[in-house]
Amino acid sequence: MLKVSLKIRTIIQFIAAVLAMILLASCAELKQDRPFRPVREYERMIVGRLDAEYVGTDNCVSKCHKHEKITDDFKHSVHGEQIKPETGLPLVNCESCHGPGSLAIEKIGDDVESNDEQKVKCDTKALLDIHNLPTPAQSLICLKCHAAASVPTLAHWKGSIHALNDVGCFDCHKLHRGARQKVTREETAELCYSCHPEVKAENSLFSHHPLREKKMTCTDCHDPHGTVQSHLLKGNTPKELCTRCHMEKQGPFAFEHGDVTENCATCHSPHGSVNNYLLNAAMPFLCLQCHAGHVVGWDGSALYNNRCTDCHSQIHGTDIPTPTEKKGSFIR
Ligand code: HEC
Ligand code: HEC
Ligand code: HEC
Ligand code: HEC
Ligand code: HEC
Ligand code: HEC
Ligand code: HEC
Ligand code: HEC
Ligand code: HEC
Repeated sequence: MLKVSLKIRTIIQFIAAVLAMILLASCAELKQDRPFRPVREYERMIVGRLDAEYVGTDNCVSKCHKHEKITDDFKHSVHGEQIKPETGLPLVNCESCHGPGSLAIEKIGDDVESNDEQKVKCDTKALLDIHNLPTPAQSLICLKCHAAASVPTLAHWKGSIHALNDVGCFDCHKLHRGARQKVTREETAELCYSCHPEVKAENSLFSHHPLREKKMTCTDCHDPHGTVQSHLLKGNTPKELCTRCHMEKQGPFAFEHGDVTENCATCHSPHGSVNNYLLNAAMPFLCLQCHAGHVVGWDGSALYNNRCTDCHSQIHGTDIPTPTEKKGSFIR
């Protein structure tokens, strides 16, 4: 009897374990594979109330936002008055993003001054609930106008790791925090660090690209809107990205280092490292990952040598043949 119940207990435990594993696996999957709704569902969400009419920015402003910072910022923004009809660009007004506004101001009288004095507020519930829309719908508000023609990399937005992980335009572009709609180079790194703190930690290591010195920023290497490469990297290949600035490493060289320099991250940690020159591992361990060390000495008496790059100094490849008998090595 005891034996049987033990067996049952083991079976139950086994089933529970399997179930837990399935559950865990599906959770991990859910983060990436959020079920996609058809775009038309999101499109419907951003239409706004069908019984409302468009009333124009002047009405929105004079009825309830007359002396607000929002209005002033908007006026000075690219979205505000700077777009002239003769450019042929879509004109932007409050309702381009907030939806038709007639119902929101329906109950507000025409006496602008007294509305302002009494701080009358419009009925925001009649507008689009811009804060609580699902992220893809929020982004679609912007994508109505910002197709790939305005920001070429937005062509890759939908399949980008950001869009797939519920990061949307509003997360990075704060529309009413000032006249600027763009993220400036100075504020980019801090914005990115807010969600990628591990990169901040790497940037603070001894060897680092000069991000914290503000000589560079994340968007020199990444495009947050999407790219053709993994990790949102700019350029067509990993090598092409790095050799934009480090041109002397581009090659092709007569004597290449196998094909290992095709991806510079084989040996370098671009955000930062505790080792010199952003190296992934300290010398000679970096080299010993792929090579056996060796004893050097043409007379056979020399010691095992640790300082590989003392002799193999042209590690990225070279056109100059080595002066030793072993032609082809980039020893110099
Ligand atoms: C390009 C799109 C866009 C335009 C144009 C726009 N807004 Fe907004 N507005 C937003 C977004 C997005 C939010 C949500 C807050 C945020 O994340 O910036 C918002 C929030 C607001 C809020 C609420 C602020 C809060 O903290 O909840 C008010 C009020 C507002 N907008 C008024 C206006 C007025 C008035 C105009 C026209 C002068 C206008 N908006 C034009 C996108 C826009
Ligand atoms: C009704 C059309 C329209 C909508 C909706 C719209 N924009 Fe724009 N936006 C424009 C136009 C037109 C410009 C100016 C031309 C350009 O830079 O492409 C512009 C410019 C910008 C710029 C560049 C500013 C600069 O200083 O160069 C940013 C950033 C921007 N928009 C972000 C957004 C975001 C984020 C949203 C969604 C909340 C949004 N826009 C919604 C039409 C729109
Ligand atoms: C993860 C942050 C992030 C997200 C999400 C994001 N952007 Fe941007 N966006 C930036 C940064 C940073 C820049 C400045 C790029 C630069 O300096 O090269 C920028 C620049 C822009 C510009 C100006 C481009 C130019 O060439 O002047 C527009 C327009 C724009 N974004 C629209 C959008 C729209 C629309 C969305 C949503 C579909 C979006 N962005 C989502 C970070 C973001
Ligand atoms: C010099 C170019 C460069 C700069 C500048 C840069 N990155 Fe990267 N980043 C890369 C490369 C290359 C990879 C891919 C690394 C790999 O393949 O192992 C990467 C990977 C990443 C990843 C993926 C996870 C990881 O750590 O490997 C994140 C997140 C990231 N970068 C964020 C940022 C942020 C945020 C900034 C700005 C503070 C930034 N990067 C600045 C080149 C750069
Ligand atoms: C609102 C939060 C948020 C902001 C702001 C943000 N990211 Fe991300 N980012 C994410 C999430 C979520 C992912 C996907 C999950 C992950 O890999 O962490 C991601 C992924 C990435 C990846 C790819 C990671 C990989 O493993 O391949 C890179 C690169 C990246 N972000 C760069 C940036 C840069 C550059 C900025 C600033 C312009 C930025 N992010 C701003 C949330 C954010
Ligand atoms: C936008 C230009 C730019 C890009 C792209 C770039 N770098 Fe750099 N890199 C720099 C600058 C600037 C420095 C600092 C030079 C200095 O301090 O003298 C630097 C320094 C370095 C160093 C030397 C660090 C040291 O401690 O001396 C290495 C290694 C390096 N980069 C590797 C890479 C790799 C790998 C990539 C591609 C993932 C890359 N870089 C992409 C601009 C760039
Ligand atoms: C096989 C490993 C390896 C690969 C792959 C590699 N590097 Fe290096 N890199 C090194 C080593 C080792 C050093 C330090 C050289 C020294 O000690 O003299 C270095 C130093 C550097 C430096 C700083 C010193 C200098 O020579 O200017 C830059 C910049 C650099 N590498 C860029 C790159 C770029 C760009 C790529 C990709 C095209 C790349 N590296 C690929 C191993 C590598
Ligand atoms: C004192 C100079 C010196 C040092 C230090 C040195 N090497 Fe060499 N290495 C050479 C010479 C010279 C050759 C060519 C030897 C030959 O033909 O026998 C060579 C050849 C090689 C080869 C090519 C072997 C082959 O058969 O094609 C590799 C790989 C290599 N070294 C890796 C390393 C590594 C890894 C380190 C560091 C642990 C290192 N070397 C340190 C001088 C050096
Ligand atoms: C990711 C693996 C990897 C790393 C790390 C690496 N190498 Fe290599 N190395 C290779 C490959 C692959 C070849 C080409 C082998 C071949 O052609 O037989 C090569 C070739 C060489 C050669 C012979 C070149 C010739 O012309 O015969 C030398 C010398 C060498 N590596 C030195 C180094 C040194 C020094 C380091 C450390 C700074 C290093 N390697 C790091 C993979 C690596």
